Amino acid sequence: MSDLVVRHVGRLTTWAGPRLSDAAVVISGGVVEWTGADRDLPTGLSDRPELDAEGRAAIPGFVDCHTHAVWAGSRRDDVAGRLSGTGYNPAGIAATVAATREASYDDLLAAAALRLTAMRDGGTTTVEIKSGYGLTSMDEARLLTVGRDAAAGVGLTAMTTYLGAHVVPQGREHAEYVDSVIADLPLAAAAGAQWCDVFCDDGAFTIDDARRILIAAGEQGLGTRIHAEQLTNTGAARLAADLRCASADHLDHVTAADAAAMAAAGVVGVLVPVASLYTRSQRWSHAALLRDAGVTLAVATDCNPGTAWCESMPYAVQLACLAMGLSIDEALRAATLGGAAALRRTDVGHLSVGARGDLAVLASDHEVDVVAHLGANAVWSTVIGGQPRRASAVQP
Ligand code: NIG
Ligand code: FE
Repeated sequence: MSDLVVRHVGRLTTWAGPRLSDAAVVISGGVVEWTGADRDLPTGLSDRPELDAEGRAAIPGFVDCHTHAVWAGSRRDDVAGRLSGTGYNPAGIAATVAATREASYDDLLAAAALRLTAMRDGGTTTVEIKSGYGLTSMDEARLLTVGRDAAAGVGLTAMTTYLGAHVVPQGREHAEYVDSVIADLPLAAAAGAQWCDVFCDDGAFTIDDARRILIAAGEQGLGTRIHAEQLTNTGAARLAADLRCASADHLDHVTAADAAAMAAAGVVGVLVPVASLYTRSQRWSHAALLRDAGVTLAVATDCNPGTAWCESMPYAVQLACLAMGLSIDEALRAATLGGAAALRRTDVGHLSVGARGDLAVLASDHEVDVVAHLGANAVWSTVIGGQPRRASAVQP
């Protein structure tokens, strides 16, 4: 955790008040101590390391609250098939499970570290990482450990999520596998998982499975979240409301009644527009439906090999705006504060005094350019806990 003064931020978004022009951020011991106009910078900071943003805009670091970042192998055949008209089928997950089980710890760690480095270069400072490509007790625990270690290695703040209930693995019987997922909850917690997630959909787990697993997870002290209404409407969003899950994610097939229940229960709606694009679902209107119902929104990458091979939060924000119709501020807020809400964290996603000193200094002098300039590298430097980490290749 470092000391740093970020100077001459052309436009600073903190979410703690109005945007500041030609601003500065003082970070002490990794925590925001002061923000304000650069000309009002407190005295006595002359021996601090400085990062001169040279007029660039800055926002709180992205909080990517939904990723499946630990896997081996490729699903390029699925992607190619989709281009010739084959729909997304969760059965494809089995191929990733087979490749992931075969990979060594070191190979999985190296692959995950590359993805997390790409995330960090795109302005992500906090990440949620799910297991779900192991699907045996030991393989799931290994993925949780790899996720935690890979994030620590690249300096990201991470929370890990047990997704033993991703699909029923080949050769296992459905009811017996659900029992084993529940039996393994203590093992997942011992491997560092703070959350439990269930993929509730056709081809995966039922509402009854999800209810049993998530109630048991809560009893083990794990927080709960759910893959809901991605491929069909199963009632998973209403289950999330009943169980007061922290988030319901995907939601392509959510209804207005589901959204009202989520809003009333304080369940965050996590939009994963890259998955909506990648599966060619052509569904975008759920974002406005959730927003209009008063649901707190988050935007995440869903980084995974089958439905969203993408580490970039700026790209997810671009789709949230241009395809789903959110405003720039709605999308940036969802990608920062909203992600923090989905992870029930108050220390990240904003730059109030006392928050973690995590920010993305953008490549441009205006945050709208995150969406206006497609295909460009949107981030010039990612600051994590007061430590600047410059992206490798940056376009102005
Ligand atoms: O979030 N929906 C379930 N899980 C992932 C996809 C996993 C895969 O296809 O490998 C998702 O889209
Ligand atoms: Fe997912």
